[in-house]
Amino acid sequence: MDILKKIEMYREEEEKLRWEGSFADYLLMLREKPWVAQSAHSRVYNMIKDAGIEEEKGTKRYNFFSHQLFGLEESLERLVEEYFHPAAKRLDVRKRILLLMGPVSGGKSTLVTMLKRGLESYSHNNRGSVFAIKGCPMHEDPLHLIPHHLRKDFQDEYGIRIEGNLSPLNMMRLEQEYGGRIEDVLVERIFFSEDKRTGIGTFSPSDPKSQDIADLTGSIDFSTIAEFGSESDPRAYRFDGELNKANRGMMEFQEMLKCDEKFLWHLLSLTQEGNFKAGRFALISADELIVAHTNETEYRSFISNKKNEALHSRIIVMPIPYNLKASQEERIYEKMINESDVSDVHIAPHTLKVAAMFTILTRLKEPKKGDIDLLKKMRLYDGENVEGFNSADVDELKKEYPDEGMSGIDPRYVINRISSTIIRKEVPSINALDVLRSLKDGLDQHPSITTELRERYMNYISLARKEYDNIAKNEVQKAFVYSYEESAKTLMDNYLDNVEAYCNKAKLRDPLTGEEINPDEKLMRSIEEQIGISENAKKAFREEVLIRISAFARKGKRFDYNSHDRLREAIQKKLFADLKDVVKITTSSKTPDEQQLKKINNVVARLVDEHGYNSTSANELLRYVGSLLNR
Ligand SMILES: Nc1ncnc2c1ncn2[C@@H]1O[C@H](COP(=O)(O)OP(=O)(O)OP(=O)(O)O)[C@@H](O)[C@H]1O
Ligand SMILES: [Mg+2]
Repeated sequence: MDILKKIEMYREEEEKLRWEGSFADYLLMLREKPWVAQSAHSRVYNMIKDAGIEEEKGTKRYNFFSHQLFGLEESLERLVEEYFHPAAKRLDVRKRILLLMGPVSGGKSTLVTMLKRGLESYSHNNRGSVFAIKGCPMHEDPLHLIPHHLRKDFQDEYGIRIEGNLSPLNMMRLEQEYGGRIEDVLVERIFFSEDKRTGIGTFSPSDPKSQDIADLTGSIDFSTIAEFGSESDPRAYRFDGELNKANRGMMEFQEMLKCDEKFLWHLLSLTQEGNFKAGRFALISADELIVAHTNETEYRSFISNKKNEALHSRIIVMPIPYNLKASQEERIYEKMINESDVSDVHIAPHTLKVAAMFTILTRLKEPKKGDIDLLKKMRLYDGENVEGFNSADVDELKKEYPDEGMSGIDPRYVINRISSTIIRKEVPSINALDVLRSLKDGLDQHPSITTELRERYMNYISLARKEYDNIAKNEVQKAFVYSYEESAKTLMDNYLDNVEAYCNKAKLRDPLTGEEINPDEKLMRSIEEQIGISENAKKAFREEVLIRISAFARKGKRFDYNSHDRLREAIQKKLFADLKDVVKITTSSKTPDEQQLKKINNVVARLVDEHGYNSTSANELLRYVGSLLNR
């Protein structure tokens, strides 16, 4: 659809949602939709809840976050259940500043941005709608109009508790514009928008010397003092600080701990009671979520300063550690690459997976349990089955280091290395080896890495490389085997003939000499062993296969290569093993003969058509596997 048309539709949509009425009308609406009077924290919580919550293996997954934040389920659950949920219930935590603490590029800003964008769209929603006193620069809650002595009655009648005092500006407007008639005060629906500074604010510290608390709480408009006569006339005050503008929604406080101490103290004492002081006015009630973020070092030095103790108690700290699941890390890279200019470059299969393995290894701590290595731990964390371990072991591992994930390689570093790989390579196609090499080079240039750490990281690069070698070998062999569909079929027919003879205690006829021979036990076993069928279990397995065949025959269906999963697996594996030499010779021959060339072309075609390679990356893969097999 035409973009102009869309813009027009959006405007029309917003036009339709507009609402304006008297305070009396607003009260009528409250009877029908009491939720529109909810607090800012409750709105945030409901926004997250309304998007849907799924439960997976005892951990909650919030749809609200899950399409952009990967692998942070546990931290997010903690954030929602320990902060947003109680805050929505008007518990005291909501008066504290929420401080997200985590390592660089761990997704803190992304999280905050999601909340902001989420609120903007939620306020267009029926469930998230917000109403305010019309013309108020702070979009004040209309219920503040109800005088304190009537609030108890109001609560009994409507079931809604009112908190906060009518601001000095609206107090004055009530008298002057409405003659004190509360019921006539105009109320309107508002829509959160960071651009329009409605309900969403961002504060970032600048030069501590020039930073003024006015940026947060607004300031006197000196040009109007002459008109209104006094500095304490609320009309002479601009309520345009971030705290004012973010009222009813949320304010992001960037780099909070970088702020000057005095400033911070001032701010925190302002916000602790859910209200703040501006100019020469009585306290202004603020109903907003304040989120700040910081990294661990900054946070540690902040709390190690005794002077900050009191501040500390007014902050709720939520750790946002790195993701520790390799598969989720891969998704992070995919997302970041899709958002970048290099999204059209071909990235060979497994490239990002291998990079992610390296990254996760740098974030994990060495297990204390003796029988488990770092690679196994990585697999377990990612939900894979590792022989000899179960989910209880995973919980135990996690308990060993409750602060795991606060250090290691960050995703931005990996993306930077991937970009530099892309720029340096002439062809628009990169593979796992390119990226591992670039990650390694990057470590040499990295200024903030100690020699000891570099060594450890180099070790992880070799580990990731070994994993990749296995993946690469498998991939190529698979492509070879499938180009031998025919041989798989032949091998299976051969196996079945022997099994049939074995079960019927019969003999086979040698196709060449016509001689009667015994079933080929060696052949049958060489296939069965591939899937771990023991000597004792072989008879049962063979009989089961025969029963399956006759069941197929009864239904008039053909028993083929795909009719028995385990048998197919065994045949495939057997072919892998037998093929090793063919693959070796074909892939490493410098001057392939016609036959070999044909085979190579088939395999390349298969890798491209079925496994997501392009011809460059497929050829690179073949060459690499050839060199591996010849080592
Ligand atoms: N767990 C994650 N899921 C999805 N994306 C992530 C995750 N962690 C990091 N990212 C991505 O990494 C990049 C950096 O993240 P972001 O800017 O949110 O980090 P930050 O914690 O604010 O970092 P800083 O401390 O440097 O400000 C973003 O593109 C973000 O999408
Ligand atoms: Mg950030």
